[in-house]
Amino acid sequence: MPKFYITTPIYYVNDKPHIGSAYTTILADVLARWHRLQGDEVFFLTGTDEHGSKVEESARLVAISPLDFATHNAERFKQAWEALNIQYDEFIRTSDPRHEIEVQNFLMKLRGAKTPLGNDALYEGIYEGLYCIGCERYYTEDELVNERCSLHPNREITRQSEKNYFFRLHDYQDALLKKINSGEYTIIPEGRRNEVVGKLKQGLDDLSISRESVEWGIRVPWDKSQTIYVWIDALINYYSATQFFEGKKNFWPADVHLLAKDILWFHAVIWEAILMTVGLPLPKTVATHGFFTINGQKMSKSLGNVIDPNDLIAEFGADATRYLILSQVPFASDGDISLTRFRERYQSDLANNLGNTVSRLTDMIEKYGINKPEHKLTSASASFLLHEELDSFNFNGALAVLQGKITGISQTIESNRPWEMFKQGRNDEVKVLLGNLWQELLTVAYAFMPFMPNTSKIIIDSLLEEKIVKAQPLFPRLG
Ligand code: MSP
Repeated sequence: MPKFYITTPIYYVNDKPHIGSAYTTILADVLARWHRLQGDEVFFLTGTDEHGSKVEESARLVAISPLDFATHNAERFKQAWEALNIQYDEFIRTSDPRHEIEVQNFLMKLRGAKTPLGNDALYEGIYEGLYCIGCERYYTEDELVNERCSLHPNREITRQSEKNYFFRLHDYQDALLKKINSGEYTIIPEGRRNEVVGKLKQGLDDLSISRESVEWGIRVPWDKSQTIYVWIDALINYYSATQFFEGKKNFWPADVHLLAKDILWFHAVIWEAILMTVGLPLPKTVATHGFFTINGQKMSKSLGNVIDPNDLIAEFGADATRYLILSQVPFASDGDISLTRFRERYQSDLANNLGNTVSRLTDMIEKYGINKPEHKLTSASASFLLHEELDSFNFNGALAVLQGKITGISQTIESNRPWEMFKQGRNDEVKVLLGNLWQELLTVAYAFMPFMPNTSKIIIDSLLEEKIVKAQPLFPRLG
């Protein structure tokens, strides 16, 4: 049985789930479900990134331990994903002692290893730099705007200097370029791949991979005065999960790491360099989607315009929320979303097009006493309908294909006017016509499964009844 291992980033436990993290998670869920339909053995991993000074600071503010703080907040992600009907296989938390052991083992391997140029992969040095506590990372002078990082304009950058262990990333330029060019791993979309290649060609700086200044983290196994840099700890989750979750050992390498452009460099360069060093195979695909803005503005806590997926679920229901988020923008591009457009799309695509077509067709099937046609359709056969789109991460394209099919069904009804045919006594023709449309609608309903699992099941169940009756309205009017 083919295996399919897909991951989302592990989300900062300090933050709440929002529409951006929901977007990545829904995309991953759709691919995971789609592969399951085809009979693949799927491992879909998500989780939370829990170490670092930001969590330490937040926990201190509410006078609880960082672990309790993280445990409490990790629940919010689990709840949001449950409310969105996300069928992940495992949820990893980086504070899990099993992950911590794997990370320490990994570091021990890095320590003894050589770079492609034959140098020691790790060395001890002094780091001095401009650190953004919001990002858990150092910045160079020219990356800052008004002495702040672009993601946290309200946070002061601090100058820090400390003893660190360094990873000799400098030595990996040629090796990584070669692997990208040979297709050993693929960065999607091509524009992002070119960006990574362009930046790689400018050369690589070594990377500090430990912190003296951070308490809440995994200890460097050979020097307990240091904790492992939170990004290294976090990246290793993709591998460690395969090692300690039951029955996942042979899922490495991942088929797809799904993420947005903000963290592509970590996933397409740093991660591969450290994997190479310890002799592990590289992930096959790093797929990058764009960023959502809200009414033209960047979504951020400080602007107060963060959309909580729970609010969308309350208004539209889980399935429609999944549909609306995915249909808004092409995978590779940034896109603006607004509640007004969500409401319009709900009305046009879901209530009118899909909802009406289902109730209209089932109504006629009931009225004209049509029996359920013979058919060989299955969810697996119907899922092939979207091969071209979903193999190329064209999620909104896939939804457009399905909407097109529904429009086609409803136009066929309009132009053939089965009610007139029936009056004229052309019962056999009505039977053939509605039988064909029934098959088309069943195909569409199956193909919708990865996107809107509940709705899809309701449609399928009603079409597969021995005695088909008019379906209940699927998408109620918005309040
Ligand atoms: N903890 C790190 C990831 C470590 S992975 C080894 C992190 N976490 S995060 O909570 O900030 O989540 C980042 C991811 O959330 C992005 O890569 C993207 O998948 C998703 N998004 C966050 N905001 C987003 C938008 N506004 N739009 C689309 N996706 C966004 O970085």
